Amino acid sequence: MRWDPDEYLRRKAERSRAYDELLARVDVVDAELVVDLGCGPGHLVDRLIARWPGAQIVGVDSSPDMVAAARAQAPAGVRIEQADLREWAADRPVDVLTSNATLQWVPDHLAMLERLRAMVAPGGALAIGVPSNFDRPSHVLLRALAADAAFAPWTSGLAWPSSAAPEAYLDVLSGPGWRVDVWQSTYWHVLDGPDPVLAWISGTGARPVLEALPDAERADFRRRYAAAAAEVYPSRPDGTVVLPFTRTFAVAHRR
Ligand SMILES: C[S@@+](CC[C@H](N)C(=O)[O-])C[C@H]1O[C@@H](n2cnc3c(N)ncnc32)[C@H](O)[C@@H]1O
Repeated sequence: MRWDPDEYLRRKAERSRAYDELLARVDVVDAELVVDLGCGPGHLVDRLIARWPGAQIVGVDSSPDMVAAARAQAPAGVRIEQADLREWAADRPVDVLTSNATLQWVPDHLAMLERLRAMVAPGGALAIGVPSNFDRPSHVLLRALAADAAFAPWTSGLAWPSSAAPEAYLDVLSGPGWRVDVWQSTYWHVLDGPDPVLAWISGTGARPVLEALPDAERADFRRRYAAAAAEVYPSRPDGTVVLPFTRTFAVAHRR
């Protein structure tokens, strides 16, 4: 699946806030190595530098487009690696290992958390965030429309993003020597501009289906999705639209 850094960054403020709130719960003062798995276009690296100025900062992403964007803006000394996080391994213990809004793209990612946890240095932390909105109308609509006969020839068998219940992250990350903090936040995003729910979801969750469709069908899909979303997420008197968006966060500190 291809990512479009510019499209993703159109909602940079909202998308970055989740990472700020995740990092705020990381209780690690000194770090030598800080890694962000699924770093995207590199818009979050400044937070890591500000928080751990002496650390080697590494961003890892599998998308060539995201990696190119991240490298173009990465300050000197920051390393951006193109790799699949399922195969990526640190060459030394990681003090802060983060992954935000990424693991939902990795099928069965709960099974992988043990491996990520094992990379964390004593006194360090693994901090992850995933969307928990796949049962919300924005995504239900997306999957239902993709299954429509007009689109099914291109969309059947598509891999959709998914995440687990908060308690599943708590269970998997807990264990002797670990202190785990799991929480959810729901953001009432106030969106403006034309077809704002479609515009939001086009940067992330809708990418598999939009990428799969030929041009004519993609245009038709966009038109039908926008019309259906406008029914479920009506415009307010000032023209804005509210999109409630829940995220689950987990921080596992290694004692
Ligand atoms: C929604 S963006 C999140 C970017 C950033 N972490 C943030 O919080 O805004 C998801 C990123 O995960 C990357 N990604 C998805 N699957 C991946 C994998 N298996 N290995 C590495 N990166 C992956 C994508 O290329 C994309 O850049």
